[in-house]
Amino acid sequence: ARRKTTRDLLKTYRQQTPLTMVTCYDYTFARLVEKSPIDIILIGDSLGNVIQGQDTTVPVTVDDIIYHTRAVMRGNQSAHILADMPFMSYQASADDGLRSAGRLLKEGLAQSVKVEGGEELAPMVARMTGAGIPVCGHLGLTPQSVHAFGGFRLQATDDEAADRLLADAKALQDAGAFMIVLEMVPSELAARVTEALEIPTIGIGAGPHTSGQVLVLQDMLGMNTDFKPRFVKHFASLEATVVDALTAYADEVRQRSFPDDDHSY
Ligand code: KIV
Ligand code: NA
Repeated sequence: ARRKTTRDLLKTYRQQTPLTMVTCYDYTFARLVEKSPIDIILIGDSLGNVIQGQDTTVPVTVDDIIYHTRAVMRGNQSAHILADMPFMSYQASADDGLRSAGRLLKEGLAQSVKVEGGEELAPMVARMTGAGIPVCGHLGLTPQSVHAFGGFRLQATDDEAADRLLADAKALQDAGAFMIVLEMVPSELAARVTEALEIPTIGIGAGPHTSGQVLVLQDMLGMNTDFKPRFVKHFASLEATVVDALTAYADEVRQRSFPDDDHSY
């Protein structure tokens, strides 16, 4: 199967079919995503939390994203590959941003990149787009700003903040962004933004009215029952499945029932 391009995604959006996205960070899961009809893989900087065990996404580097994007690329030939621009790979200057994004495409082999922020990023997004780099925006709860937010909570809850978010979304669209992630905002605001834009919105904790949805793979597979914000739905219970399998293996080894003849030479 041919890999989905931004054009394919926009076509799906125009047909009013919801876009489906999950994060993925490695070959083994990328292979499984390939067997599903998921449209987009995000190599999210959430790998800082999920893979590295960090409290925030702040420590993640461009090299980390490149390493994981390459692993994902080898396991999946059909999904669109969107790579996150990590903290401080674009905030200090648009030049930094262009070079970092270029590395994600050249070295990571990503097809597009995602940045957290609004109007202030518009000139950079326009330059990236002009350089042939498709850019996805990310508004609402932008985890790279956790220290400024003072925690992870619902964003844009008053009228002024809602109007600002809508203006940010329009500025990103006008700068050439092909898609915008909306994270932890009221459903009504996400619906308003989605209605106002001509590019798809992808929601996480943003209600049912966005053009598509994204979840962190390990979250939606129920691999960490200690982490269960309201917007996460467990579509499987892999934590229990994995722990049960490990326990069965340990038991059989201790009882010397594994390996048996079937698993020996
Ligand atoms: O890094 C990530 O997983 C993300 C999604 C939650 C949108 O940015
Ligand atoms: Na991210």
